[in-house]
Amino acid sequence: MRTQVAIIGAGPSGLLLGQLLHKAGIDNIIIERQSPDYVLGRIRAGILEQTTVDMLREAGVGPRMDAEGVVHHSIELVFSGVRHAIDVHGLTNGKVVTAYGQTEVTRDLMDARSAAGLTTVYQAADVSVHDFDSEHPKVRYQKDGQNFELECDFIAGCDGFHGICRASVPDGAITEYEKVYPFGWLGVLADVPPVSPHAIVYGNSERGFSLCSMRSLTRSRYYVQCPLTDKAEDWSDQRFWDELRSRLDPDLAERIVTGPTLEKSIAPLRSFVAEPMRFGRMFLAGDAAHIVPPTGAKGLNLAASDVKYLSSAFIEFYAEKSAAGIDTYSQRALARIWKAERFSWWLTTLMHKFPDTGAFGQRMQEAELEYLVNSTAASTVVAENYVGLPLNLGR
Ligand code: APR
Ligand code: PHB
Repeated sequence: MRTQVAIIGAGPSGLLLGQLLHKAGIDNIIIERQSPDYVLGRIRAGILEQTTVDMLREAGVGPRMDAEGVVHHSIELVFSGVRHAIDVHGLTNGKVVTAYGQTEVTRDLMDARSAAGLTTVYQAADVSVHDFDSEHPKVRYQKDGQNFELECDFIAGCDGFHGICRASVPDGAITEYEKVYPFGWLGVLADVPPVSPHAIVYGNSERGFSLCSMRSLTRSRYYVQCPLTDKAEDWSDQRFWDELRSRLDPDLAERIVTGPTLEKSIAPLRSFVAEPMRFGRMFLAGDAAHIVPPTGAKGLNLAASDVKYLSSAFIEFYAEKSAAGIDTYSQRALARIWKAERFSWWLTTLMHKFPDTGAFGQRMQEAELEYLVNSTAASTVVAENYVGLPLNLGR
């Protein structure tokens, strides 16, 4: 078997890359370890920057997102028991973010891929990458007990944080930067109307962080900061709703509609970057190269911007016979990644209760938040990072 670009992983990065390359006439095959249902069953974030929305439209999967996505003009910050709005739209010359779940993005991309008749090998076992330091890279895998080899021009490592692409790079060729936070997020999904249907609410309280988000006008997504030693089973629905209410302002606490939860899970928070993102003819994109804590809602959007740079680089290579795009991919992608890492780390630090900073730390956070909501300059910094920095950033 042969293709131009072999893509490892059918998450948002791999699927979006495959679709953009197909639109440009570049042949690609995706190799995925799991089944489509397993991939769709992972509940992840759901806030799209405008550049991500534009790319999904370009990939041909705009219509359902445009019909069902909910546009947000502002975000809200709760601290010291009071809620404040940041007018993101007004502070960024009209930019917005769109609430549309990653599961839906993934489903739309999978549907578009099968409608175009493109090959995705699901449930591939023992996937391995070879010879990416030569002009003839190869991917090997097993499917239904048989061995296969896929020859290609390039390998795109879109296989997430635990994938094999980054792990296949020789020691010494890669540098990893990491920060692990001393708490997790307990997230629930419930078919109840969101308490704040037109803004995401981020809460700082002496009891810890909270977040009110949504998947649609009838499906809510809520989170509370919790110790990493907690288990989701420790949290009854009632305990979750009571804790969430106790971290919000009295108005939201009273208006919140509770109900049975469809899903409850605890996720750790981590910042991680691997440099560089190119190794000969293999390129990393999305979670394979970097992780942000979810506080800034940047994970999916960074995956999309990597794919934008990488798809443009491959298109330039095939259409113009120029290696300029692939030679600068890592540098361009990392310039944007580090800025999103900074924003996500800063917002995480500002909004969470840390075990070692005590009452003084809490007062510092409140002072910064107070400043932030009362200063146009400080609010603008938050707003322009939240809607997403431009794609053509210098380093
Ligand atoms: N072989 C083939 N596929 C693999 C392998 C492997 N060895 N290892 C992992 N995969 C697959 C996973 O099963 C998964 O479907 O790669 C895919 C990676 O998808 P994601 O983890 O969703 O990563 P990515 O596509 O980069 O999407 C980034 O996901 O985690 C969120 O916040 C993140 O929203 C962001 C988005
Ligand atoms: C979500 O809807 O899951 C979500 C929203 C905003 C975030 C993180 C997660 O910052």
